[in-house]
Amino acid sequence: MKKLSYKIQNFLKNQYLLILLLVVLIFQLFGFFYINIHPIYQLKNSVNELNRELTYQNLEKWLKAYAIVSTDSPPLSEEMNKNALIDSFINYNQSLDENNKRIFIELPILEIINIEKYEREIDPPTEYASSNRIPQGERIISDVGEKYLQNETHVLFENGTLIIVDNIEDVKSPKIVLYGNLPREQFRVDLTNELSAIQNNTEILTDYFDETVRDSDTLKKLKFQDLNIDFVQDEKVISGEISLIDTKCASNYNLKYGYQVDIDKYTIYDLTNLELKDCSVVQSFSQPKETKMLTCVDCKYAPVDKTYFLPSTYSPGLVPTNLPGGGYLTNETVVALKQIADELKKEGVNVYVTSAFRSYQQQQEAFNYWVNRELATGLDLQTARAKANVYSAFPGHSEHQLGTTLDIRCEDCSAFSKDVASNPVYQFLQEHAHKYGFVISYPAGKQHLTGYTYEPWHIRYIGVELATELFNRNYQSSTNDEYLTKFLLEKAMY
Ligand code: DAL
Ligand code: ZN
Repeated sequence: MKKLSYKIQNFLKNQYLLILLLVVLIFQLFGFFYINIHPIYQLKNSVNELNRELTYQNLEKWLKAYAIVSTDSPPLSEEMNKNALIDSFINYNQSLDENNKRIFIELPILEIINIEKYEREIDPPTEYASSNRIPQGERIISDVGEKYLQNETHVLFENGTLIIVDNIEDVKSPKIVLYGNLPREQFRVDLTNELSAIQNNTEILTDYFDETVRDSDTLKKLKFQDLNIDFVQDEKVISGEISLIDTKCASNYNLKYGYQVDIDKYTIYDLTNLELKDCSVVQSFSQPKETKMLTCVDCKYAPVDKTYFLPSTYSPGLVPTNLPGGGYLTNETVVALKQIADELKKEGVNVYVTSAFRSYQQQQEAFNYWVNRELATGLDLQTARAKANVYSAFPGHSEHQLGTTLDIRCEDCSAFSKDVASNPVYQFLQEHAHKYGFVISYPAGKQHLTGYTYEPWHIRYIGVELATELFNRNYQSSTNDEYLTKFLLEKAMY
């Protein structure tokens, strides 16, 4: 017996720590439940739902703010989560009143640094007319209807926490809000089918689109690819984006479409003014299977193109153009260029050098710049490079590295406009460049031969004799296959 009580005594002694732990745990559990049911805990929870940075440390300042705000503007927000926050504030206030004491957590006082009131227009919170043309859950606001004001009080605390209490006020002037009845997915399918029917001239079962879309030849030329319902709520329309693709040259056109309240139809913006890229000949240019490095010391007559390229170290002797726009070119190129500039000046036109000699590295930068621009339109790298390469050469493959080639324009004309008829410099070059020894390297309608789109501004100096011979072969005409580098290969003077 003695032995047993000794054993128990011993056990209790040994387990003293364990018992102590148990007692602590019981207190902890009590604390846990107490906190869980306490309004302050609810408040913390509801505020956490709002993703606001509310902690026990700054509760007090929130409550002080609420007290100030609530006397000025009673919080009447429609939003559930804000209600939850406000309820919690009220609960907490009540608990302070009832118990007339602070809760067991010591709350430091934090300062409010700013209170501002804002007034902004909001959508009416009540039901309005419905439209079966608009996908469910979306709405549009037209110019007439009801208008509501929301008063907001922003309270800013010293730690940067901001609490907004809002209050919807009077009807100011009429405004209509339409809510759609049409299920969103159904809408997408209907619109897609209607567009496909328009394009394929098959029976059209719905009538979402307006006449400009139905009658558009442009739309018929492009393959409809994708339609997204990325509606934005705007003052007048809800709209999405539609993707059309030119299968001939894999060009994408992303156009906006939107609902027009007045005619109760959708329209595709830009469709009538859309300038289709001239890509009918893009595919007929076949990329050379192999490229060849030029070994010329003076490459003035070398065929620099998509096949033949200059070594990265190639750089001719250069002098400044001393013309507006600046840049450097070989001496004889500058001399010839000055004659053109003088001639044009007599007609009251000042020329401007957009770009002259470009080193291999500079061409690399220029090409990368254009590739990045193409990438920004959502293309993959391979496509972006291919697209950029119809107007910008790979490094080594640019005639600009020769020092005999430049891009030119009139001083107050835009750099790369292809409107030749209204551009005195391009007009002059077309008719007279050869007389000064220059050739337009990439004439119109010859992309399938040169690999580049029309560049009325890009001229290369090869001397009067050769330039005139090529001119007389009518190289600018799109109906023959004469072009500069073919001519230079034939001459084999490099
Ligand atoms: N723009 C011409 C093709 C070049 O980059 O040389
Ligand atoms: Zn150029």
